[in-house]
Amino acid sequence: MKYFEIRHGVMHIEDIPLPDIAQRFGTPCYVYSRAALLAAANEYLQVFAGQNALICYAVKANSNLAVLNQFAKLGLGFDIVSGGELARVLVAGGDPTKIVFSGVGKTEAEIEAALRAGIKCFNVESAAELETLAAVAARLEKVAPISFRVNPDVDAKTHPYISTGLKENKFGIPLQDARAIYQRAQRLSSLRIVGIDMHIGSQITEITPFREAAQKLLQLVDALYKDGINLEHIDIGGGLGVRYRDENEPSVAEFAAMCREIFAARRTQLLLEPGRRLVAYAGILLTRLLYLKTGETHDFAITDAAMNDLMRPALYQAWHPIEKVETRVTDDTITRAWNIVGPVCESSDFFAHKRTMALRQGELLVIGAAGAYGMTMSSNYNSRPRICEIMVDGKTATIVRARENIDALFAGEFVLS
Ligand code: LLP
Repeated sequence: MKYFEIRHGVMHIEDIPLPDIAQRFGTPCYVYSRAALLAAANEYLQVFAGQNALICYAVKANSNLAVLNQFAKLGLGFDIVSGGELARVLVAGGDPTKIVFSGVGKTEAEIEAALRAGIKCFNVESAAELETLAAVAARLEKVAPISFRVNPDVDAKTHPYISTGLKENKFGIPLQDARAIYQRAQRLSSLRIVGIDMHIGSQITEITPFREAAQKLLQLVDALYKDGINLEHIDIGGGLGVRYRDENEPSVAEFAAMCREIFAARRTQLLLEPGRRLVAYAGILLTRLLYLKTGETHDFAITDAAMNDLMRPALYQAWHPIEKVETRVTDDTITRAWNIVGPVCESSDFFAHKRTMALRQGELLVIGAAGAYGMTMSSNYNSRPRICEIMVDGKTATIVRARENIDALFAGEFVLS
């Protein structure tokens, strides 16, 4: 089944025409297909079914409670990076014993909340964090399950902002320091060593960097075994890329085959932290064209959505597919190589440069593959209220996050008395 398709000249999400969504909920809005979310998660579950594997969805990609709840119901675990994400997962019905906590800057309060919740594992990223974690756990008279995030120094060949496995990146513990820090952890009675993890980057479009990094990790696992440290799980992070334009998209099956091959002889549990791959295709940003502005050198199509709603193009020069909701070309459509831009007062506020399309003022556009890192990275910049999120299931559309109203914009602000 295709989740977004043109029927009789009008794009539908599942069984609902997108103009109906726009009319009912207004624009701009994020619209998610429940079936697409489930299909992406089920693909992972099926492909890894024969393996002792736990899929921990990386919440940062899309943290709407309804999305988390769908995944929780399928039995997925979660990768979190903040106390806020922890709270979301728990409220959405996630199982705390399937939560791993990543991130280079966990605060004491966040550590405490996660210890009280009884999470599966803390992915520790530095010697300093280890000491803090041990102290907090001791104070609460708890034993913290830990893994170290190791930085394998492998080039994931992705955008520098989302590359995390090189030695110049802030993430993880250098490979050569790992044995010593595991030995240190062994001496701390409020900690229990359970695993090892890595995450080399995001939007990775080849299998090779994963293989290279995992192999380095396994060498370390063997060295640790000789030191008397026997791990229960190996977490190889997230990062599998999607096709926004024409990128190579490694299949989940290919990825799993690589895992099976290199983890073959081991009984250790395998953990994965996919984010983007589970949600990117399931969501779109629906926007209306406010104005067309033709000029001598540049032609601008101005949408009601902006960089504060979807900042990937502004931040990473990311390319997203853009399509018309109604394909018919009328007399008032103008064909140009459009710069498709939002109303925010910055030239970085764009969705596309030189996209040749026949456009008409007032029509609806879809910015595709926006389910991952869309809403979660949105802001109130230019005092624009955050937009609503809709989830579609067959013929039913449900609002899963209300559009912010103007009052909400400054609800926590005060003037001096
Ligand atoms: N695990 C850890 C520890 C991570 O830091 C991340 C993403 C993931 C898993 C999930 O990676 P994924 O499977 O989604 O690639 N805002 C950027 C992406 C930032 C990714 C940060 N970490 C973007 O819009 O492309």
